[in-house]
This record gives sequence, structure tokens and C-alpha cells, in this order.
Amino acid sequence: MIVAIDGPAASGKGTMARRLAAYLGVPHLDTGLTFRAVAHALLTAGQPLDDEVLAERAALDLDLGALDRDILSAHEIGEAASKVAVMPKVRTALLQAQRAFANQPGGAVLDGRDIGTVVCPDAAVKLYVTASPEVRARRRTDEILSKGGSADYEQVLADVRKRDERDTNRAVAPLLPAEDAHLLDTSKLDIESAFRQAVGIVEEVKAQ
Ligand code: C5P
Repeated sequence: MIVAIDGPAASGKGTMARRLAAYLGVPHLDTGLTFRAVAHALLTAGQPLDDEVLAERAALDLDLGALDRDILSAHEIGEAASKVAVMPKVRTALLQAQRAFANQPGGAVLDGRDIGTVVCPDAAVKLYVTASPEVRARRRTDEILSKGGSADYEQVLADVRKRDERDTNRAVAPLLPAEDAHLLDTSKLDIESAFRQAVGIVEEVKAQ
């Protein structure tokens, strides 16, 4: 079974994806990390973020097994990732790796922005996890502060809105719920209730 989970930054989709993968006993790929890894490779090599040829090369060189969440989860890398993610050549290069991961025997859970629409349009279960920009900015700020970092809520909210704008309005694979996705709004639900709803949806599909 392939489970596709999409949604905007800090919506809770990552936590949902990890928990569902553990519940089903299948591997999980956070596709945001693949875009983050491309941005990180360019930044550490001192290369610009707007050169599509260099970005494509970084995407083709990516090793899915070597994604380091601790390094890649930095807030600024998310911003940089959304810049390289607008480039069609980067998306095509990463798509190969993402699809290969999705199609491994036994199934997988993938989360991102375009899993249900582009990467796995035939996924058995599609979830679109969302929350208001204010709730997402509050969660992201608290997360950064709890790790000992510094974060200003208003600045994080501005960044969340900027990233939504970039992800929603890009020409290729924009952030969009698939027509057959189940919507889970986590501004009104805590993560436990959202997870229980998701399990209910998965179990219903399994029983068919
Ligand atoms: O989910 P995360 O915040 O780690 O994603 C970082 C950026 O990568 C997003 O803002 C988005 O621009 C891009 N992304 C994407 N398609 C995906 C996953 C992430 O364009 N499937």
C-alpha cells in the first residue's frame, strides 16, 4: 500500500507520515528532505540557488540513504529548498528517486507537496494535512525554541506565508490537494485525533 501525504510547511504532515509508516510497518520518505538536500549541497559548495544546471546536477547526485534530518531541518534550508523546488529539471531528477522509493515491494509512506498529484497519483490512500498559517507559525516557532534556537513568531509567520505563496503558485507540481485526497485540518484537531482519523481511512481502504 502506498500512502501519499501532502500539505504546507509545518502542517503536521511529517509527524503524521512517520506515525503511519510505523503503524503500517513500511518505510517512510520525507520528500521535503530531498529538496532540502539539493539546496544544502549548493549552499555548502558556495553555489547560487538559481542556476538550474548546477541544481539539477546536485539532484542527480543525491543519495536517498544519506539524508541527514538534523542538518537539513534548519529553517533557512527550508526557505532555500522552496527556491530550488520551482525548477523543472530538479523536480524531474528527484521524481525518479521518489517513485523508485514509493514502488518498493510492501509499499511506503511518502510526504511532501505533490505526492498525491504527481509522484504517486495512484496511491491507495491520499491525505492532505493542513492548518492555518498562524497555527503553523506558532508550532514552528515553539519547535525551534524547544531545540534551544532563537525564533521570532512574526518572522516565522512571514516566512510561512512566503513559502506557501512560492509552493502554491509555481508552474510545476504546485502545492494542491489531489481531487481524491482526504482533508485533515490540524488547526482544529490535535495530532492524536488527526492520526486516529488517518488510521480509520487507511483501515477502510485495507478492508476493501
Ligand atoms: O516539507 P519541507 O518543509 O521539508 O519542504 C521544503 C520545501 O521543499 C518546500 O517548501 C517545497 O518548496 C519543496 N517540496 C516540494 N515538493 C515536495 C516536498 C517539498 O516542492 N514533494
